[in-house]
Amino acid sequence: MKKKALIFGVTGQDGSYLSELLLKKNYDVIGVMRRSSSFNTARIDHLYKLYPNKFDTSYGDLSDLNSIERNLEKFEPDEIYNLAAQSHVGVSFEISDSTFNINAFGPLNILQVLKNKGIKSKYYQACSSEMFGISPPPQNENTEFQPQSIYGVSKVSAYYTTRYYRQAFNMFAANGILFNHESPRRGLNFVTRKITIGIAKILTKEINFLELGNLSARRDWGFAGDYVEAIWNILQQDKPDDFVISTGENYSIEDFVREAFSIVGLDWKRFVKSNVSRYLRPSEVPSLLGDSSKAIKKLKWKPKVLFKDLCLMMVENDLKSFNLTLDEAKKIAKKL
Ligand code: NAP
Ligand code: GDD
Repeated sequence: MKKKALIFGVTGQDGSYLSELLLKKNYDVIGVMRRSSSFNTARIDHLYKLYPNKFDTSYGDLSDLNSIERNLEKFEPDEIYNLAAQSHVGVSFEISDSTFNINAFGPLNILQVLKNKGIKSKYYQACSSEMFGISPPPQNENTEFQPQSIYGVSKVSAYYTTRYYRQAFNMFAANGILFNHESPRRGLNFVTRKITIGIAKILTKEINFLELGNLSARRDWGFAGDYVEAIWNILQQDKPDDFVISTGENYSIEDFVREAFSIVGLDWKRFVKSNVSRYLRPSEVPSLLGDSSKAIKKLKWKPKVLFKDLCLMMVENDLKSFNLTLDEAKKIAKKL
């Protein structure tokens, strides 16, 4: 039977990949998006054109209970994916109130409406490896949460809120604890994308060097296109549950910089400067490395794209956005 999905956070990286996946599976997809003074639909514009009768968006905001009620009552979706968040950890140190409001009260608002109105949608909550904070790697579903940012704290709150509704009211509410996942659609101020677009800008002389913060932190980076398959899978289980989604490999920021610059043949040390006062976080998460044994066993999921291919995919995409092929980039790099 044809299903209807409602996605909060549809304009984001994961929202766009998940929409594509669900549309290919013949779902009707409604994306909830907030009003913005400049257009924020670049990641989903192609979907309006490709799926005019199956994909649409509706205004709504996680901090606006009325808008949540209106959307849930109007669409009564089979599945709800809550991907909406103030998702930048570094920025959460600057805007902690709104980060907590969106990320912690947002899920509570949705779950409350579902319960109070008796709407039977399955609910997915986007949680994060940032919740593990300083707990030593590897991290899995049983690892202690020791968050190091209000972003992390807000996601711990979302995690327990989701479990509470599941346990107390027997609702299908599940958490995905996803480790970092990147793509050509990654926001420009996350470190991987900042590096890959930085390389294209250096080659086209838009900038002379790239400023970064802590290069020694380690992350378990996967590809967003793979991770949305796990997200969908989590809601297809017989029982709601919580899952860690990761690659099981981790690398330092310096490793990512070295790999990305080497793809075009540049020595990163000539082009990367440290601006610790600007980019160093008041508290850092030193090392994330996921153990996804549970997901591999129960969801039969595993990542397809790993570190080197992910780097290459992102570098090539950003070169393309500057009308450069990899071969052309390598030639320019030789002259720099
Ligand atoms: P993203 O690109 O930053 O997208 C976040 C989405 O949330 C955007 O569509 C944004 O809308 C929307 N949003 C923000 N505040 C909102 C509000 N008040 N009401 C409604 N929508 C709002 O993030 P992502 O990388 O796709 O991540 C998706 C989710 O997974 C997030 O919850 C994130 O915290 C979590 N997560 C991500 C990763 C990762 O590595 N990517 C890992 C673990 C967990 P605008 O376009 O208007 O800003
Ligand atoms: N953004 C950024 N910019 N990070 C930098 C920079 C820089 O110039 N220089 C060094 N870093 C370091 C950060 O200090 C952090 O240790 C690491 O690079 C990764 O930073 P981000 O790419 O901003 O990602 P994140 O790990 O903080 O958060 C992402 O992953 C979480 C899952 O673990 C986000 O996608 C979160 O939404 C997600 O929950």
